[in-house]
Amino acid sequence: MLALFKFSSLTAFLLAALAVSADNETNMLTGTCIVCHGDSGASAGPAIPNLSSMSPNYLMGAMLAYKYENKDDLKQAIDSDDDFQDVEAFTRESTIMNRIAKGYSEAEIKAIAKYFSEQKLYFAKQSHSQENSQAGRELHEKYCASCHEAEGKSSEGDSGVLAGQWKPYFLYSMTDFLDGNRQMPKKMKIKLNKMIAGSGKQSLEELADYYASISNSLE
Ligand code: HEC
Ligand code: HEC
Repeated sequence: MLALFKFSSLTAFLLAALAVSADNETNMLTGTCIVCHGDSGASAGPAIPNLSSMSPNYLMGAMLAYKYENKDDLKQAIDSDDDFQDVEAFTRESTIMNRIAKGYSEAEIKAIAKYFSEQKLYFAKQSHSQENSQAGRELHEKYCASCHEAEGKSSEGDSGVLAGQWKPYFLYSMTDFLDGNRQMPKKMKIKLNKMIAGSGKQSLEELADYYASISNSLE
């Protein structure tokens, strides 16, 4: 009995020590990110995105795309690791992240993605026009909601989280997609082009206000 007690308390102690060291490692890895992206990925904005609550596949895809800027290198990095088998390769340009991401190994990227995906969704505190956000809601339902579910709060389908994101960052992303500086899924491109053709570039501002209007209170 005593021996059993000793064994289990030692095991508990060792497990606790292991858990602490895993936490410390993640803290060390994410420490750099948090300087810009905020505690738990809740960014102070406005051009730096929130990271909280995005799916691991989306976050890993983003980090790998920053790390491997060339399309073939990106594809090879994804194909050569089973943990990335559900990650889709979408190249993207960046101002800062391409330099930062190169400093992290694949294993570190996995740990970082796990951490941010587990953080509670953060809704940036920012103003929005009521009129725009109503128009944006209709556009969202028509062109975006099939993939960006639950008012853009869901990260289902590894499509990123749109609700509560900083408006300037959202608008930069949309400009990058439209200018071809960031790759997107073919079906998203079709919908986006249809929307711009039908409702003009003003629709982007309306969507930005709509996503900014989404908050916890609507749950
Ligand atoms: C110096 C500030 C800075 C630091 C440090 C930083 N980031 Fe970023 N991050 C940015 C900016 C700015 C962008 C927008 C893309 C760009 O221009 O580089 C961004 C974009 C991203 C995105 C894309 C989000 C999306 O919605 O698609 C991810 C993921 C990301 N960063 C993860 C990280 C991680 C993980 C770390 C730590 C290893 C980190 N960042 C460190 C500034 C920073
Ligand atoms: C067919 C599914 C699909 C449709 C429709 C779609 N998207 Fe996407 N969207 C995605 C996927 C998948 C990604 C992730 C791309 C990546 O990993 O870089 C994404 C990424 C994004 C991002 C980047 C998020 C970030 O944090 O940087 C924005 C912004 C976005 N979509 C806006 C829209 C808008 C606005 C519409 C409607 C006009 C739309 N999408 C329609 C699938 C879709």
